[in-house]
Amino acid sequence: MQLQDILYTQGFGTRRICAGLIQQGFVTVVSAVVDDPAMDFEADGLQFHVKGVPWAYHEKAYVVLHKPAGTECSQKPSTYPSVYTLLPPPLRQRPQKGAVQGVQAVGRLDQDTTGLLLMTDDGQFIHRMASPRHHVPKVYEVVAADPVDARQIERLLAGVVLDDDPKPVRAAACEITGAFSLRLTLTEGKYHQVKRMVAAVGNRVTGLHRSRIGGLELPADLAPGQWRWLTAADLAAIRG
Ligand code: URA
Repeated sequence: MQLQDILYTQGFGTRRICAGLIQQGFVTVVSAVVDDPAMDFEADGLQFHVKGVPWAYHEKAYVVLHKPAGTECSQKPSTYPSVYTLLPPPLRQRPQKGAVQGVQAVGRLDQDTTGLLLMTDDGQFIHRMASPRHHVPKVYEVVAADPVDARQIERLLAGVVLDDDPKPVRAAACEITGAFSLRLTLTEGKYHQVKRMVAAVGNRVTGLHRSRIGGLELPADLAPGQWRWLTAADLAAIRG
């Protein structure tokens, strides 16, 4: 693939801008400046620098972000900064593929929820993850306002009725993790589902953190606000 096309697919701007970056000597491959936009490279696995910033070619982008509290998952946030501001511009500017332009959050977390957020420009992946047929388990660590007891856990496992649907929703798994905390696994993602389920059993969520999706744990070395690429093994773990 021509170097200008590689930069374009990775979100470094229009083809003209990418050609300009290369001609001006801003792009290095294996430490050597390449100033010919049409020079061909094997794209898969290519590492390069643009204005000194390292980048690795990815045909599709799949990343994990440790969402900090006080951020919104919307592109047009109403009150708090958007999680998209935590990503480097190329990830947000990747050219449109199908209906998806740039990476998008796979589902949403509330502004005060922290933890594992997947982001991708693979529209099919977003669709699959949202589909209730796929039942990908999501694990939430909950801090509650009042003491957590066995009866609350039993009710969350048996199913509770939320106000928008007479069909009960149940936790796929639920356990007490402390006097005021519990771990809840859901295979669906209704609006404010954890908070509403915990409220339905007479308690209240004061802290919420997503620790796992499928078999992928939030990486322990990923600080709030940081992101990293997902590996093929991570993607396989998510699918379970
Ligand atoms: N359930 C909630 O109530 N909030 C979230 O952010 C995620 C799940």
